[in-house]
Amino acid sequence: MSRFSQPQDPIFAQLNASISFDRRLAPYDVAQSRAHARMLERAGVLDEEELASLLGGLDSVQEELESGSFPFLPDDEDIHMAVERRLTEIVGAVGGKLHTARSRNDQVATDVALFTRDHAARTVADLRALQAAVLELAERHIDWPMPGYTHLQRAQPIYLAHHVLAYFWMFERDARRFEHVLEATALLPLGAGALAGVNFATDRRFVAEQLGFEGVMPNSVDAVSNRDFVLDYLAAATTCATHLSRLGAEIVLWSSEEFGFCEVSDAWASGSSIMPQKKNPDAAELLRAKAPRVAAHFAALAGVMHGLPLTYNKDMQEDKEHLFDAVDTLALCLAAARGMLTGISFRQERLAAAASDELIAATDVADLLVRRGVPFRQSHGVVAGLVREAVQSGRKLSELTREELERHSDALDGEFYEVLSQRSWLESKVSEGGTALARVREQLAYAHDKLAVAAAPARFNGDQSA
Ligand code: ARG
Repeated sequence: MSRFSQPQDPIFAQLNASISFDRRLAPYDVAQSRAHARMLERAGVLDEEELASLLGGLDSVQEELESGSFPFLPDDEDIHMAVERRLTEIVGAVGGKLHTARSRNDQVATDVALFTRDHAARTVADLRALQAAVLELAERHIDWPMPGYTHLQRAQPIYLAHHVLAYFWMFERDARRFEHVLEATALLPLGAGALAGVNFATDRRFVAEQLGFEGVMPNSVDAVSNRDFVLDYLAAATTCATHLSRLGAEIVLWSSEEFGFCEVSDAWASGSSIMPQKKNPDAAELLRAKAPRVAAHFAALAGVMHGLPLTYNKDMQEDKEHLFDAVDTLALCLAAARGMLTGISFRQERLAAAASDELIAATDVADLLVRRGVPFRQSHGVVAGLVREAVQSGRKLSELTREELERHSDALDGEFYEVLSQRSWLESKVSEGGTALARVREQLAYAHDKLAVAAAPARFNGDQSA
């Protein structure tokens, strides 16, 4: 019997079905169903024989899914219904008992939580691998001077290792954001039923333990309404993809003839179909361009959840494609970034030449005056005047005469030329977190420690096997 007197309109069925994409949840749905069936037996809802036949049937379903022989039917609306339908075909009427004390509302929330937890753990692992590549790159270029930029104008010289390590810390924060996602998926939604709880004395904690959750969600209404953890994943993915886009953008710039700072390996570049001389950094360009796609998934789901009345609404079915595409896009980008960084080569002379422009030492000259008691604001103005005079007369700062210097400030003497000739502009940046070599080495050691701690067994292992 059905409540309805008309069959579904085929267009409605098409709009309503999620099977084309949620079949990806199949392994989680089967794992969840095993745990749920075991719990039902312990609660006395199923007898031992029924449990055995359900578990045997679920094994067959899993095999069919894994081998690709699972017969999806046009009427399968979503993965939950497809699994139950097939299970019942295999084991007979007892298959219909599996859905006792469960609703698709708590079922889908649980599948998506398992999927999200699993993939957040994988993203953390991908980030750690990328951090290791960044660290290795920094170590190989520990004392290579290059210009540091603000507004894409040469600002102050730094070591290449220092610049590269900036990405290490971005990825460190990203890893923490994904670790937070593990915490956001630590409590089991299943057992909430449709929204109010179920009419059986179920043991939710047993199910939680079977599926690797740390506990159960304390409120059934919240349990089926909640998609925070998907938003958390997408938010973390947005920030991470944004970091990757900045890395990509820098590689695009730096590998141009105009900069000539680096070259991506042939394995990560393409040629032009018309211009034989071209070597294009496509991978870096795509790292740059993928970020808004991930951000759009976050914005889209935030829009879906916005103002949505409690509890479950079909709108929430729209969580999955955004999540899946963000997961795949990010995994691809993280792997590409790592591969590209592993094969990239830098040009020491080009970097050094750009970093030896004397104007880049303007801050150091200003600080020389500060050490003589001139307030920084005033010394900034003095040096700005010197730079202007040098630039206007087509000379280097060190080509200004003693008399010219004295006209700008009586605190200026021969040490001005020493500051410019000693080239100690990098080694003078001794503050903690600065670019002086000793500080960069300190930073490298700190980064190594971080990675070592991260390699220790995680609190959440994402293992959802029973
Ligand atoms: N396919 C649905 C989803 O992804 C499963 C939950 C359906 N629940 C319902 N009450 N219709 O959200």
